[in-house]
Amino acid sequence: MFNQELEVTLQKATADQLKPKPDQNNLGFGQFFTDHMFTMRWNRRQGWHDATIEPYRTFAMDPAAMVFHYGQAIFEGMKAYRGKDDQIFLFRPQDNFDRMNQSALRMCMPRFPQDRVLQALRAMVYLDQEWVPKTPGATLYIRPTMIATEPALGLRPAEEYLLYIICCPVGAYYSGGFSPTKIYVEDSFARSVPGGVGNAKTAGNYAASLKAQDLAHDKGYTQVLWLDAVEHKYVEEVGTSNIFFLIDGEVITPPLEGSILPGITRDSVLQLARDWGYPVRERRIAIDEVIAAGKSGSLQESFGTGTAAVISPVGEFCYREELVQINGGVAGTLSKRLYDELQAIQFGEREDPHKWRVRVG
Ligand code: COI
Repeated sequence: MFNQELEVTLQKATADQLKPKPDQNNLGFGQFFTDHMFTMRWNRRQGWHDATIEPYRTFAMDPAAMVFHYGQAIFEGMKAYRGKDDQIFLFRPQDNFDRMNQSALRMCMPRFPQDRVLQALRAMVYLDQEWVPKTPGATLYIRPTMIATEPALGLRPAEEYLLYIICCPVGAYYSGGFSPTKIYVEDSFARSVPGGVGNAKTAGNYAASLKAQDLAHDKGYTQVLWLDAVEHKYVEEVGTSNIFFLIDGEVITPPLEGSILPGITRDSVLQLARDWGYPVRERRIAIDEVIAAGKSGSLQESFGTGTAAVISPVGEFCYREELVQINGGVAGTLSKRLYDELQAIQFGEREDPHKWRVRVG
């Protein structure tokens, strides 16, 4: 299955295939795509083959392709950052590819040779380097994706797959940037169940979250905070990110017990908080504890962590029509420090003690 000798073919876009670059001050999130993409195919006989960096294009797919019917689709979110002297960095890309291979295992999809794909990604980002934004805070978002392409309708793992990577220059994920978000605590719908696929980055998890997100938007909330599916009691994660609380000086986040995504930003935040001497606990935390801490004033901060969201402070939770404001609705000191430190590491402006950065080119 693992073809470590995998050759990557390069087909450079011709001058007439190059696209105009968007206004870097108005990028939004995920709306413009670069000139090239990486594609690679798998089938049982050949393993991974036809690895190519090629001009960005649309796919022609059989309507019976199994991804459309049984949802074998996994993806990742990572970023490239332009530092000083136009150096370009990736942040912990091996961890994204590790996680993608874990998602592949869970979804009965083939694992891929991470080192070769990372090499191809670096070559592609280098080729599309003009697309890595120069405006402060803007980045090149990278979306590795794998889908089942075999045309067949029997319910079983597909025998043909396509892995592709596309890139898009992005601004802040939330239109409010670093301004605190308002989060609606969802206590009837559930995102994932014990033994389910909550810890895999699979498309269906996001489709399943949309109804609750829509209802939360209608009520004026930015995002949903999911609770566990069994008791609707313990905090799990936010629609786009993992969630953290600072209560009485202690940094708390739900543990990785199978129903939440093992976030790479989550892991980086745990590491930084430990480096800075904070007591850090990965433990179950009941929503009632969060609300009580909010009311007593011991909930000092809360923030989401994710590749797209970076660090997104929470200014307010709404749980069963009850509102809890955090830190007067403004971003807290720890959220700000984490945001600044992470961004500084990612953009190559500060020491990188944990060797998280990978240089492109
Ligand atoms: C990411 O943070 O990279 C994600 O995949 C979350 C997505 C909702 C944008």
